Amino acid sequence: MKTQVCIVGGGPSGLMLSQLLHLKGIDTIVLEKHSREYVLSRIRAGVLEHGFAELMREAECGERMDREGEIHEGFLVSDNGAMRRVDLHKYSGGSSVVVYGQTELTRDLYDARDRMNGKVVHNAEDVALHDLDTDKPYVTYRAGDEVIRIDCDYVIGADGFHGVSRKAIPKDVLREYERVYPFGWLGVLSRTKPVSPELIYARHERGFALCSLRSQVLSRYYIQVPLTDTVGDWSDDAFWAELKSRLPDEVAARMVTGPSIEKSIAPLRSFVAEPMRWGNLFLAGDAAHIVPPTGARGLNSAASDIYYLYHAMVDHYAKGDDSGLESYSAKALARVWKAQRFSWWMTMLLHTFPDSIPYDNKLQQTDLDYLFSSEAALASLAENYVGLPF
Ligand code: APR
Ligand code: PHB
Repeated sequence: MKTQVCIVGGGPSGLMLSQLLHLKGIDTIVLEKHSREYVLSRIRAGVLEHGFAELMREAECGERMDREGEIHEGFLVSDNGAMRRVDLHKYSGGSSVVVYGQTELTRDLYDARDRMNGKVVHNAEDVALHDLDTDKPYVTYRAGDEVIRIDCDYVIGADGFHGVSRKAIPKDVLREYERVYPFGWLGVLSRTKPVSPELIYARHERGFALCSLRSQVLSRYYIQVPLTDTVGDWSDDAFWAELKSRLPDEVAARMVTGPSIEKSIAPLRSFVAEPMRWGNLFLAGDAAHIVPPTGARGLNSAASDIYYLYHAMVDHYAKGDDSGLESYSAKALARVWKAQRFSWWMTMLLHTFPDSIPYDNKLQQTDLDYLFSSEAALASLAENYVGLPF
């Protein structure tokens, strides 16, 4: 087989790039290790920067997002029971975010690929990358007993943190930066009315909590738990009781509880791999960087990679201009590190650290009080949350 751009990974990054390039007449093949059902069964985050929402519309798959997604112009921060609001609209110069589940977004991207007869290969096993440092790279994968070869101009590693692409970069070239946090997030999805029309980020001496939503009948809640905890340690009743204990009384009082339809624990880590290009391999999304979910940057950081790659590829194929491809790694990493900083800062601000000393707790309290006493600090938070310019 032959294509122009071979994309490894059928998650939001790979599908978005495939869709955008197809609309510009650039041929791609997406290789996904799992079935479509498996990919769509994963529950992930759901806050989209306005720039990402724009990219979905440009990719001609923003219709359902605009119909079913919610525009949020602010969110709430509760601190040991006291609630304060971050007015994103006011402090970002009139911008906002879209609350729309990553699962639905990925479903829209698959539907868009189907509408255009996009080539997405599922259950592609043993994907391997070859001759990446030549101008004739190729990818192989196994379909049953048959090994299939795809010749291409470029390979995109959009295969997530556990994929093969990043590992294809020689060890003496690849630099990895990582911070692992001493706790995880226990998340629950429930068919219940969300407790608040806007997200609530809760700081509490018992640990962090987050009240989010997927729709007015589907709620998503998280509590900070020790990394040693398992889902088995947490009955639904125990989860609801602990969540309520970390929220202001009036919020807890109106909490609608119900059986969890999904319950999982995600460890928190910050991770960046550099460079994001090696030869004709380009990394995008979780394959190159991971953030703790506190800042809602994971999906949005992936989208900015795709934004830069998309424009660079179009410049290459349409104008023979390779400046975008040459500057891709530096440009993408510059924005990735800003998302890293913001996610780290939100995580340090709102979680309890098992090894913290009283001085740390005082600093955390002061950071929060400064935030709500300074227009400049609120403006900085707002511009990062709605999304820095690409
Ligand atoms: N071969 C083919 N596909 C693979 C391989 C492989 N060896 N390894 C992994 N994959 C697939 C995975 O099954 C997954 O569907 O690559 C896809 C990567 O998708 P994501 O992990 O969703 O990564 P990305 O598309 O970059 O999206 C980033 O996902 O995890 C969230 O918070 C993160 O929101 C961010 C978003
Ligand atoms: C979510 O809705 O899952 C969500 C929202 C905001 C975050 C993290 C997760 O910061």
